[in-house]
Formats: sequence, C-alpha cells, structure tokens
Amino acid sequence: MYTKLAVLSLLALRALGSVVPEQQPLDNNAHHASGPDASDVLYELEKAEIIPTVLDSFLPSINLTIFWANATSELGNTVDPSLMQRHPDATGYLFPGVELSNKIQLVMGVTDPDAPSRDNPEWSEICHWLAVLKQDRDDDSDSDSDGAVDAFDKKKYYELMEYKPPGPPPKTGKHRYVFVLLAPINRTTEALHLTKPADRQHWGYKEERQGLRKWASNHGLEPIGVNFIYSQNEEQ
Ligand SMILES: *[C@@H]1O[C@H](CO)[C@@H](O)[C@H](O)[C@H]1NC(C)=O
Ligand SMILES: *[C@@H]1O[C@H](CO)[C@@H](O)[C@H](O)[C@H]1NC(C)=O
Ligand SMILES: *[C@@H]1O[C@H](CO)[C@@H](O)[C@H](O)[C@H]1NC(C)=O
Repeated sequence: MYTKLAVLSLLALRALGSVVPEQQPLDNNAHHASGPDASDVLYELEKAEIIPTVLDSFLPSINLTIFWANATSELGNTVDPSLMQRHPDATGYLFPGVELSNKIQLVMGVTDPDAPSRDNPEWSEICHWLAVLKQDRDDDSDSDSDGAVDAFDKKKYYELMEYKPPGPPPKTGKHRYVFVLLAPINRTTEALHLTKPADRQHWGYKEERQGLRKWASNHGLEPIGVNFIYSQNEEQ
C-alpha cells in the first residue's frame, strides 16, 4: 500500500504529501497496490522510446494520470483527437518513500515528438501546453463534497503556453503525446521565473528534435511524473 497518498489535480492541486482519504479515487482498493510502480512507468517510457527521445532516464516520483471528460492516459493507449479538445486535468500519487513539499511550484508540459510524423520528426517537438501551478494551490476550500475538483479553477495555475489540442495531420501515423510534470531540481519553494518558449515548433529552439528537455533544463527543472497517449488522424 501507499504510505503516502497524494491526490493531485493539476488545476486545483490537492496537498501533495498529505492524505486526503475522501479524495482517493480508488479508496482502499487492491487495485491501488497493484498499480504501476516507478519501474513499470520507466519500462513503458523506454518501450515507447520516449526515453531517450523526449526525456533522459529518471526515477518517477509520482503516478501521473491525465484525464479528459471521456478519456484517460494509460501509458500508451490510443485516444481519438476529438476527446482531447479541452485541456485535461491530472491526478497523481506519490510513490512510496517520496516526499515533495506542496510549496514547490510544478509545471505541466505537453509535447509531440512526432511532428509531422514519427518517421520524419523534422518539426519536432511541438509544444502543446505549459501550465504552471501556483504555490498557493493548497487550499481545502476548493473541493466539492464528492471530492471532485473544479477543473477550470484559474486561481490554481496559469498557462505559459495555451493548450493546443492534439491535431495529428492526415496520413502521419500515430503521434506520441507526452505529458510531463516538472519540478525544480533544487526543490526550491521560491516562485519560479519561467520564460515562454518563443514558438511551439521546436519549443522555440529553431533546431530539429529540440523541445521539452531543453526548455526544462534551461529552467532548472526535471521530470517527476510522466504519462502518454497515442493519437492519429482518422485518415491514414
Ligand atoms: C496510478 O494511476 C492509475 C490510474 O489512476 C491507477 O489505475 C493505478 O492504480 C495508480 N497506481 C498507483 C500506484 O497509484
Ligand atoms: C463525453 O461523453 C458524453 C456521453 O457520450 C457526452 O455527452 C459528452 O458531451 C462528452 N464530453 C466531452 C467533453 O466530450
Ligand atoms: C533553484 O533553482 C531555480 C531554478 O533554476 C533558481 O532560480 C534558483 O535560484 C535556485 N535556488 C537555489 C537556492 O539554488
């Protein structure tokens, strides 16, 4: 079982590191214990070549799940673009033994390394979203009685780069859309000073196959949780 459960909602973040029993989607369910652990997540990221294409190898701290009204990320399931038109929400559980102050600002980055296609990624990566969680997100007043969170509570985050829904072009096969939760490497609780990428394409670096990794490292950030889906145009 998880010694420390944290339910995180990207847009109305729950206190990381504190137990909020009524907020556990799978409260006391055996499924929890059998859910993916950090090495399962790594295995899937390597199998899909997200490591090393998008990220260097790292040990995930959080079980990150991305969800829309009618779709959920499951480390490599396929989701129709029509289900991802509004930006998603996220939940996460800290893996056992992991500590993370809820005063640390976190950043959600979403990237497509397969533009225009996985075989020919000359436009990659494309930045689809950069959302920055505010530090004052730990506020108990935002939960509904059923533990649901307000997915559009703008008080909890701001967008450095607006959400651009996945729109894989016709005949370009499956694209990987990678959702990465970033934290400051030095775990500072100070406010982060982040600059918006100059462009979505190559995350503004004007160089093929550059993207999230470079932006993160330029800002002293590292991944702590990742999930991903595949999506393709219906015309293939
Ligand atoms: C991780 O999240 C998924 C989806 O919410 C869940 O099925 C799984 O049990 C979780 N695993 C852990 C370790 O919490
Ligand atoms: C989700 O599916 C339900 C039932 O099909 C539908 O009514 C609703 O509009 C869908 N929501 C979104 C955001 O796609
Ligand atoms: C921690 O990292 C952030 C982001 O790179 C940087 O702005 C800050 O100065 C660092 N703080 C300390 C105490 O090293």
